[in-house]
Order: sequence, then C-alpha cells, then structure tokens
Amino acid sequence: MTLEEKVGQMVQYSGGWDLTGPATNANTQLKKQQIEKGLVGSMLNVTSVEQVREAQKLAIEKSRLKIPMLFGFDVIHGYKTMFPIPLGEAASWDLDLMQRTAAVSAKEATAAGVNWTFAPMVDISRDARWGRIMESAGEDTYLNTQVGLAKMKGYQGEDLANPTTMAACAKHFAGYGFVEAGKEYNTVNIGENEFHNAVLPPFKVLAEAGIATFMNSFSDMDGLPATASHELQKELLKEKWNYKGFVVSDWGSIKELETHGVTANLAESASMAVQAGNDMDMESNAYAEHLVQLVEDEVVAESRVNDAVGRILNLKFQLGLFDNPYKYCDEAREKTDIMSKENMDLAYEAALKSMVLLKNENQILPISDEVKSIALIGPLANDKNTPLGNWRGKAIDDSAVSVYEGLKGKLSNSVELSYHEGIDFIKGGESFGSPLKINTTDNSKIEEAVKLAKSKELVVLVVGESAFQSGEGRSQANIGFAGLQNELIEAVYEANPNTIMVLMNGRPMDISWSAKHFPAILEAWHLGSQAGNAIADVLLGNYNPSGKLTVSFPRSSGQEPFYYNHKNTGRPTGSPNEVVFSNTTDVNDEPLFPFGFGLSYTSFDYGEIKLSKNNFNKGEKLTAEIEVTNSGDRFGEEVVQLYIRDLVASRTRPVLELKAFEKVGLKPGESKTISFEISEKDIQFYTANKKWEAEAGEFKLFIGPHSEELKVETFHYE
Ligand code: IFM
Repeated sequence: MTLEEKVGQMVQYSGGWDLTGPATNANTQLKKQQIEKGLVGSMLNVTSVEQVREAQKLAIEKSRLKIPMLFGFDVIHGYKTMFPIPLGEAASWDLDLMQRTAAVSAKEATAAGVNWTFAPMVDISRDARWGRIMESAGEDTYLNTQVGLAKMKGYQGEDLANPTTMAACAKHFAGYGFVEAGKEYNTVNIGENEFHNAVLPPFKVLAEAGIATFMNSFSDMDGLPATASHELQKELLKEKWNYKGFVVSDWGSIKELETHGVTANLAESASMAVQAGNDMDMESNAYAEHLVQLVEDEVVAESRVNDAVGRILNLKFQLGLFDNPYKYCDEAREKTDIMSKENMDLAYEAALKSMVLLKNENQILPISDEVKSIALIGPLANDKNTPLGNWRGKAIDDSAVSVYEGLKGKLSNSVELSYHEGIDFIKGGESFGSPLKINTTDNSKIEEAVKLAKSKELVVLVVGESAFQSGEGRSQANIGFAGLQNELIEAVYEANPNTIMVLMNGRPMDISWSAKHFPAILEAWHLGSQAGNAIADVLLGNYNPSGKLTVSFPRSSGQEPFYYNHKNTGRPTGSPNEVVFSNTTDVNDEPLFPFGFGLSYTSFDYGEIKLSKNNFNKGEKLTAEIEVTNSGDRFGEEVVQLYIRDLVASRTRPVLELKAFEKVGLKPGESKTISFEISEKDIQFYTANKKWEAEAGEFKLFIGPHSEELKVETFHYE
C-alpha cells in the first residue's frame, strides 16, 4: 500500500446523499472521487442495500487495491423496529432481553447494508440535565458494565463473520457523562480516583471482551480533549489493556482540537490525534488533508499509520469483507428481516419490561373492570412519534403505537374511552439537530380537557418530554415539565384527582408536585415501536410491571448531579434544615424515587441475609443468601439487589455500590432463596497505591428491593 492508501483507510466520511444519482454538489463529488482513489476506509450514514452497494462498488470496482469499506451507523435502540431508549431498557434489569434487542437491531441493520454500530454508550450518567443520559444505562458503573457487555454480545454475536451481526463500539472514551453542569460538550473535571473507579470499568471490561472498536469523547478533561489524549488511548487502552481494535474519533472531534485551543491548525490537530492513538478520523478531514505530509515531514512516524491501518483492516478481515464486500447487500434479507412480526414482538416485550411503576396508592392500578369511562388526556397520549425517542436509527416517523391506540385496542367495548390532547406541546422542529418549538403561550385547549376530566370516572394523563428533548445536544437547565404541561397537570388534577399519570421521557424529571398529588404514576420512557400496546397492558393489568429505576429521581433540578452511590462526606445527615451538614436547606436531600426503585402489582417480602461466614480471606468466596417471597396474589418479578460499602479505606468510598442483582419470577405465595457469591474482585477499587486491589477491613453488605430499603450484614476481609 502507498502511504496515501494507508492514510485513506483511516478516513471516514458521512454519506447522507444519494449515491445512486449524479453527485450534485462539490463535497459529494469529492467524496465519491476519494472513494474511487481508494482514499476512504469507511462511510457513516449510508444505509439501504442499494446505497451501500453503490458506495462499495466505487471502492471495489474503481480503486487500485479494491479494499472494501466499513459502513457505520448509530444503531442505538434499533434500526427500524424501535426498542425502548437505552435508559428505559436498562430499567428492565434483564440482560438477556438487552442482548436479544441488540441482536435484532444488528439483524435489521445488516440487512440494510450496515456492518458497524456506534453503540453501546457506556458513559456513566449521573446528571439528568445532560441530554445523552437517555443513551446510557444510568448512574451505576456495575450496571453499565453488565448492560454494555450484553449489548456488545447482542451486536457482535459469537462470530463477527456472521452476516447478521455487526461490529460494536464502546463510547465515549472517556468521561463524557461528567460534563460540567450536564451541559453538552462541556469540560469535564473529575479526580483520578473517581475516574478510575466510576468511569473506566465498563470500557476496560468491553476492551477485554473483544469489542471491535472504541470512540473517543468530544470533552476535555484536565486540560486535554479526549481525542488528543495519549494517556487514555495509547497508554491505557492499547498498551495497558492490550486492546487490539481501533479507535474512531467522534464527529469532527479532531478538527475541534483547534477550537478547544490545544492546536493552532488542522495539521496540528491531525498530528496530535494520530499520535495519541486515534486511528480513524470521522468527518474532520484532518487525516485526509494532512497525514501524508506529516509522515513525509517525519512529524508522525509511519509505523503509527501502519499500526492504525492494521487495526482497521483486521476488522474488515474479521467481518469477511475481503471474501465478499457485498455480504451485507442482500435485497431478500432487506425485505424479510426488517420490521418483521418477530421483531415487533420483541419490541413489545422490551417495552413491557422497561416500565417502572413509581406510585400506586390504594391500588388504583391496574384499572378495575368496574371503571366504565376513561378520559385519556395529554399532548403525548395519542402521539405516534414521541415514543420512538431520539437516536431512532431509520425509524419511520409516526410509526409507534400510541397510548390511545393501545387502550382502544385492548379495552372492552363496555368502557367509554375519550381522548383530548389538552395542550399543543411541540410544534415542528422534531428531528435530530433542529431546535424544538415548544408552545408556551396558547392554553386555549385546557378548558375542554378539564371538562372531559370532570365527566369521566378516571383520567389517564400522558405527559413528559418530546422525543428530541433528550439525546445529543439536548441538555436542559430545568428537568421539569416543559411548555404548558404544569398548567394542564394542575388543572386536570383539580378537575378529577382520580388521575393516573403516564410519563414519557428520556431522563429523570422533577415530578415532585405530581408525585405528591396523583395516586399513580407509571414511568414509560420513550418505549419504541410498541409503546402504546405495552402501556395499555400494564394499565389494564395484563402485565405486572417489573422495571426498576437505574437513575435516581431528584426533588428538584438544582440537586443534579444526583446519584445514590455518592460519598459520605465529613458531615453527612439525612435531616433537612440542618445547616452545617452536607444538605440543601430548601429541598429534602432524599431522592423522590431512589435508584433501584419500582413497584409491582404484587408485593415481595425479604427475609434476613445469611452469610456463609463473616470473615473471608484473599482467594476465598463469600456467599450471601436471602429468601424472597411473593406475598401478594399474582405472579410478579422482582429485581433483588446486592450492595456493598467499604467502611474504612485508603480513599473515600461510596456509601453504597451495586455489586450484583438477580431478577426472579415468583408465583403468589412462592419463596425463593437468592444466592450471591462475593469474591475479592467485588471489593477491589482504585486505591491510594493507584492500583485495583482489595484492602483489608470491615464491609457492610446489603440486599433489598432498592437502594433505600435494604437488609444489612457485616463482614471482614483479610
Ligand atoms: O456516534 C455518534 C456520537 O455518539 C456523537 N456524534 C456523532 C457520532 C456519529 O453519528
């Protein structure tokens, strides 16, 4: 390969134009010519068999070396069949389900020519103001690691050469979830200890498990943008963790090194990024324009280019693209494998399992057969677009089942269902990068909704966030209800307090007022294609909700970042109004709904924890058992959670850390003993020695239904 051809493999461009037609603008023309010259290693956003084939043909039929291109796309929670947004799906705590939805997403995407997804995102997300929290498994490191692994296994399968699986990507390496004030693309300030303990573990596990690629982060930390960090990409990922895959930049993040102010021009940015270990350039044009010259001028060693190209070609070999560059271009599969009945069934199952019942006073839910008239109110109640969420792949707009459709289809004919939107919410602007136009003035429809609420036995009120209020570039200072929703909520409550609130959202919200007043609240996230059917089945009791929060709900936006696994501080207290303690004085510091919380239509009783021993030594294992009983009168599933606290350590440790969980299904009256095995690795952390190790001492071990209701035992580790 010539130097130019090698550098070409390190270049990725975005498509998004019609490859089958004539190139209509200079930029498109240039990209096409570059492919023909063999100077493009990968495309993103080129989808469909027809488009991918056309693009691949340029590389295979026109370029000298005929090296096939990789086709990347953000398959985040589905390709065309939409599954719940990752934050919602994580609430199922069902790793097998998450693996299966990733596998189906891969099956659909590969049927449309795509062979590389930019997922899973494993950024620990503790700040609900950050829009991208919707793309994560929430605030916990252990859970993000397990979910990340399940997703990777689903996307990549057993064998990357299987044409129904695709390469996955661990992103964003690293620290992006800690952007200051939850403000998108902002600076990250996080201490070394927290960085190692909270942020890095999922990435390390995915690197070791063989995830095909990594993507770095837009953010800077300690004065250095991640894209330019030698310490992160070269020293830690590739040397210490011995990672053999490749690192792609985020969109334009090499060019942005100049904007960050660490380079003076694009050539310097290319040089800094490539030497730091960034192998592929997504849409900065930095490598394409400058890397050859940088090598010729001996600013960048050709061996670094060889290393990057080797990594990229290796993935192409693993995928089998050299044997058949068109292996993902199968028109028959494109017709059968996308949005099939089977895929929709899985979307329905995932939507059911992702919902979290937050409140259910006097068992108002499930809706009793005796209720004969229901008012369905709210701007999201008959919305077929919002449930698709952001990062929606190639979802067809307005293709989700709305709550109205779901209820209509499942309610018996003897029940009268009337619908009113209550307010206009979002008017236009509903796409990835476009500003939202939220109605904040016209409340003229509220009166009619109030009339309807008054006239019916029960109200189901569907409110929350539009699909594009969360996601990339969608940070918010206020995580309450936008637009005129508060006005509607209060008016409906006054008209008929017998109201069940259904929330659709991409982040934890400030719902304090609603939580105080409404008798029932169902958290329904952005649940995907089958949202309405699944919501109706939970409301009507055809499915018993089993989801639990993987993010804490605060009482106020001002508490963010708000997470359960915080440090104790030198002055902890749970009591409000104590002024010289680590409290806010105006808002109760306890979560409105804690991490791990979720109700069921049945109830579960926990016995006491039984430890196999109270002292355990290096190399040994400790078993913790607890009996869980379904004390209600219907089948239900419970997520039994185990947490540990290290009481005295060389560095401050979190008050609680999730270490294991098991989801168990129990018939009425049935009991099961749940058994967890604890070993040294579960108490290891990044210590004062700057190493992962377990320190001798006292520990508390907790088991329970959520992070605020726990049985406790102690043990000693030597
Ligand atoms: O994969 C994404 C990334 O997470 C954010 N910026 C754009 C990339 C490609 O679409």
